[in-house]
Amino acid sequence: MKYQKLGNSNIEVSQVSLGTWGLGGGSVWTDHNSSLKDTELLLDVCKEHGINYIDTAPVYGTGESEILLGKALKTRRNDFVLQTKCSLNWRNDGGNFHYSRDGYTVNNDTSYDAIIRDVDDSLLRMDTEWIDSIIVHYVCKDWDVSETVSALEHLKKQGKIRTYGLSNSQPSDLEEYQKYGDVSLVQEFFSILSPFHGRDYFPVCEKYNTVFQVYGVLEEGFLTGPDFLKQKYQASDIRSRIPWVQQQYRQPLLNAFDAWKPLCEKYHCSYANLVEAWALHESASLNLLVGMRKENSVKDTVNVCNITLTDDECKFMEDSVKNIQVEVLDK
Ligand SMILES: NC(=O)c1ccc[n+]([C@@H]2O[C@H](COP(=O)([O-])OP(=O)(O)OC[C@H]3O[C@@H](n4cnc5c(N)ncnc54)[C@H](OP(=O)(O)O)[C@@H]3O)[C@@H](O)[C@H]2O)c1
Repeated sequence: MKYQKLGNSNIEVSQVSLGTWGLGGGSVWTDHNSSLKDTELLLDVCKEHGINYIDTAPVYGTGESEILLGKALKTRRNDFVLQTKCSLNWRNDGGNFHYSRDGYTVNNDTSYDAIIRDVDDSLLRMDTEWIDSIIVHYVCKDWDVSETVSALEHLKKQGKIRTYGLSNSQPSDLEEYQKYGDVSLVQEFFSILSPFHGRDYFPVCEKYNTVFQVYGVLEEGFLTGPDFLKQKYQASDIRSRIPWVQQQYRQPLLNAFDAWKPLCEKYHCSYANLVEAWALHESASLNLLVGMRKENSVKDTVNVCNITLTDDECKFMEDSVKNIQVEVLDK
């Protein structure tokens, strides 16, 4: 495993990080319910393979992911860098409507008071004294950035958080936040099927020594191989709503897997590893946030650390999906 510093902080994280949206279950991740025992095992396998960085959010399962992780971390807290998010809450005490799901209405609120409340709520749910990194889940322009940063800096001084980042943001948002504080990371979608947003962002991240943490590198599993495309999900499930299930993307994606097969054979790796290695080739300082609930997913994913694709191989891979790449994916 390789390790990197989170921006200008002194927090050292593994380049592969554990995404736990799926751990929250609910109506968006319907195929697997993780128990506390499963989660403890998952964390132990992560530790064994050098993954020390976990990402969650209050809204993953409306509190469920944070609660489950908090319990599993009880005796493991010092082994992991724990990251959660703020701005999306279901307190119904202000903010802008974001979505309704599973009987909850979630609002987005980046005001000073809301950020402070969010962090206190997460600390309670995870039963921990500190959060290593907190991300503004949906950057929003309805409150001054100076106000949001002032809350984050205050929390840092109190020792409740160690650093902070942004998500679902634009390069111009990072520029704006940097006027008032120091953003350690941005967490943004990036995959071989939707690479444009990341490519716009990389130079700005480099300018501020901000880590670009990738989410969706496997497109919720669609890039793990042809078998995934055969699966069926309920209408509420995230995987039934993103473009790759649609007929016009299916065949081109199956063709791409056929084209990439010799590369899997050359590197003795999975399709997942191949598209992850493609992402790392784009920018060596990326952090790869991969959603994993199963032990085998972790064991397979860490193989990416042993693969370095050539420029030509990366170009070949991308050429195979050029006709189905998309600009924006809001998950
Ligand atoms: N900031 C945001 O707005 C935002 C949005 C989306 C996601 N995220 C974060 O990013 C994380 C990653 O995104 P994601 O979970 O949506 O999707 P993802 O990482 O693209 O894909 C996750 C899926 O891939 C499977 N998988 C992972 N590694 C595998 C391997 N080596 N072989 C086979 N299957 C493998 C997982 O299986 P199992 O679960 O069965 O192991 C899971 O079904 C989330 O968990 C969350 O922490 C943030």
